[in-house]
Amino acid sequence: MKILGIETSCDETSLAIIEANMGVKQPQFSTLAHNTLSQIDIHKEYGGVYPSLAKREHSKNLTPLLEKTLNDAKLLKEGKTKYSEKEMAKLLIREPEMLRQFNSLIPRLEKPDIEYIAVTVGPGLEPALWVGINFAKALSKVWNIPIIPVNHMKGHVFSVITNTKEEIQYPAVALLISGGHTELVLAKNWSEYKILGKTRDDAIGEAFDKVARIIGLPYPGGPEISKLAEINRQNYPRSAEKWSFPRPMINSGDLDFSFSGLKTSVLYAVNKADKITEEDKQEIAREFEDAVTEVLVSKTKKAMEKTGAKTLIVGGGVIANKHIRQELENLGVKTYFPTHKLSTDNALMISIAGYIDILNNILLPDPEEIKAQGNLKLDK
Ligand code: KG4
Ligand code: ZN
Repeated sequence: MKILGIETSCDETSLAIIEANMGVKQPQFSTLAHNTLSQIDIHKEYGGVYPSLAKREHSKNLTPLLEKTLNDAKLLKEGKTKYSEKEMAKLLIREPEMLRQFNSLIPRLEKPDIEYIAVTVGPGLEPALWVGINFAKALSKVWNIPIIPVNHMKGHVFSVITNTKEEIQYPAVALLISGGHTELVLAKNWSEYKILGKTRDDAIGEAFDKVARIIGLPYPGGPEISKLAEINRQNYPRSAEKWSFPRPMINSGDLDFSFSGLKTSVLYAVNKADKITEEDKQEIAREFEDAVTEVLVSKTKKAMEKTGAKTLIVGGGVIANKHIRQELENLGVKTYFPTHKLSTDNALMISIAGYIDILNNILLPDPEEIKAQGNLKLDK
């Protein structure tokens, strides 16, 4: 079966088409097409993702990206699709440019050989999510294809499948770390989840971005901080004593996180100093990275012990951080990471998550009733 995946929950516009088959134990699929447009350069100026800009960019990008994705998958066939433009106007009304593009592409295409549309419905930025959802609804209507509403975090969990040929053993603990999320989740099997702990304030990637800003580094700050930390790590075996930051909630006894206080202590320390040299920046970056890594690793270890899980799944953009990755690997448990490309937001993981839902026989809703759910939880 072929599934079209749509992801617009944050600042990546992404579409994928997979061909999937086999059973739930070891799902197999091939990627027929996968295209992602990142908006990082647009949001850079604002030092973070700006929801109304994200919405505008998704609206502008989705239709041309669909044409390219269908073409890449060899599913683009000239033909005819008939529909009421009025009805499309109702579905896409808030995005006039998207409507115009849609009306100039879709009527000249034949219905592609696609059985399902999997679309991210949450969690994420609601204005951004709605663009993808409305696009999915419009395609569903004109081509009569059912929609699978997908939880974005499930996508991050399944992003590791593409990077292994093994059958993943459950129960597993999933550590999901990105710019929007920090969660420890128990995956009892493919489809049953329980949130073990999450951040009470900032997400880990957000903390990287904010600390980067404090020491004058550009957005997104994660890669910048890790570069500086790496330089310091190569030059010095131990971190400098000049800067010392807390390991928030490391002994809290639960599996929750908090990164906002850590960011504030960096801010105080920087404000107190007369001058911040390049060397200072490297030291701060390293001490901050050490602090978040120690907390992440300690809580992940506790989650594994508490649940008895033998497998660790890690997903989300922050896993691009080499130090965090290395320290998680040092835990000595069977760990699965996604490929670099699939660690950030993408539609391939959404298509896979949708396919797993189909394998689990979930009831598909009436497309009309699908809504964006900014705070959607994994264990709901
Ligand atoms: O998963 P993602 O692409 O988007 C969200 O869903 O948020 O994650 C982006 C986040 C940003 O906060 C970025 O600074 C962080 O991941 N990030 C990193 C690194 N590369 C990206 N954080 C730490 N170290 C990195 N090397
Ligand atoms: Zn994400």
